[in-house]
Amino acid sequence: MKTITPEETKRQISYSKRVKELFMTAAPKALVITYGCQQNENDSERIRGMLSAMGYAFTENKSEADLILYNTCAVREGAELRVLGNIGALVHEKRRRPNLIIGICGCMMQQEHMVKTIRSKYKHVSLVFGTHTLHRLPQLLFEVLTEQNRVFSVEDSEGVIAEEIPVYRSGDPKAWVSVMYGCNNFCTYCIVPYVRGRERSRMPERILEEIKELAQQGITEITLLGQNVNAYGKDLTIGIDFADLLFEVNAVEGLRRIRFMTSHPKDMSPRLIEAMASCEKVMPQLHLPFQAGSDRILSAMNRRYTKEGYLDLVRSVREKIPDIALTSDVIVGFPNESEEDFAETLDVLAKVRFDSVFSFIYSKRTGTPAAAIDDLVTDEEKHARFDRLLALQNKISREINDACLGQTFEVLTEGESKTDASMLTGRTPGGKIVNFPKQDGVTTGSYVTVKIEKTNTWSLMGNIIRP
Ligand code: SAH
Ligand code: SF4
Ligand code: F3S
Repeated sequence: MKTITPEETKRQISYSKRVKELFMTAAPKALVITYGCQQNENDSERIRGMLSAMGYAFTENKSEADLILYNTCAVREGAELRVLGNIGALVHEKRRRPNLIIGICGCMMQQEHMVKTIRSKYKHVSLVFGTHTLHRLPQLLFEVLTEQNRVFSVEDSEGVIAEEIPVYRSGDPKAWVSVMYGCNNFCTYCIVPYVRGRERSRMPERILEEIKELAQQGITEITLLGQNVNAYGKDLTIGIDFADLLFEVNAVEGLRRIRFMTSHPKDMSPRLIEAMASCEKVMPQLHLPFQAGSDRILSAMNRRYTKEGYLDLVRSVREKIPDIALTSDVIVGFPNESEEDFAETLDVLAKVRFDSVFSFIYSKRTGTPAAAIDDLVTDEEKHARFDRLLALQNKISREINDACLGQTFEVLTEGESKTDASMLTGRTPGGKIVNFPKQDGVTTGSYVTVKIEKTNTWSLMGNIIRP
């Protein structure tokens, strides 16, 4: 495992100071817009950490931002098109305010054809960097500010681990902690291994140090992150696996809730299930993508398990953790998926009865093996299947939520509800969203006991019975 050198860290800190010196009078404002998964959210926290050290304040308002930075996702075409559309629309703002710096970073910028597109067609973008050079932001920004040139830093390296980057968190009672980066699985439809590099686990001491610090700051819930989080430790030579890590994190004082994502079925060891069952702070929640139900499609996807294997796994998880909330990801319309194949996917939904499912229509990703398959299924057919899948899952989610009526849950208050200012919102141990009326003394970070009075497909509503 490679980490960045202390010299490199020092160099970036000195650049950070130099950027700060450029703004002697007023603090500049930055807007960081994040697409994609929690890894990207976590990267954006590090970006904000570096920007804050450089003297930047933050704004949500494009027209008052001195720096607008898009942290992008490449996993589906839709996400890419949205970013390109938004950046295209900024051309007028840049004309109006030539000093505005527009930047793009993240997974999209690890793809050569995208970088080319930005270089030639989006000339108002002056800062571009990929996932492997995030830690160099102070230097890159210094160059943009002083050289009046466009700066591109996209390395095709396997990636290193940068430990010393400051992190700017939003003041939530919960935090994300990346424990590993990258992915080795090469599912045939997926771009992630190409844009995030190979699996690299952080050393356990560094992870625990970070979590202890968070706990001391009053954060009580953490989510351990990795594209393939339960493969943690496989690339280290110190004989540690994800189950060991869970035990160690479980022992951190002050912490009350531990979650993790995303787990790959092939790395869900019996030891890990045991660890989840026996660590009292590990919440009864598991996000376990199955992607497809047909063995033929699973094999074409290179998922390395069968439908029966997946169902067996779910059975053994439920045996050890009966109240587990299960969620999953599924892809509809992988090239040449037949009606029979799709029926197997619906069958998995019906058999497992997930609490909720993130479903996606297959999106062709340049450079992945599946992109080369001649696909005979029409878009119309794919959309029709997607709607059928959604209808089935919504019905199941609703039934599971309805069964929560009258039950009580411990809820960690996360803040005001986005849709109703008289309500607070939080999550149950299983991760379900619960809204409940405000009450004196109950603030963000409070644990309360809530009795469920009303249910929806996506959330629950209740009253505090014990603050
Ligand atoms: N590492 C995680 C998440 C990867 S990306 C995992 O293995 O599950 C999140 C989800 O996006 C995937 O689970 C998959 O369902 C979906 N996805 C990935 N590539 C896709 C593609 N080309 N088209 C449609 N959905 C895709
Ligand atoms: Fe993509 Fe598969 Fe890796 Fe998940 S496990 S990130 S779907 S290649
Ligand atoms: Fe997207 Fe990159 Fe995450 S491609 S899903 S932001 S790792």
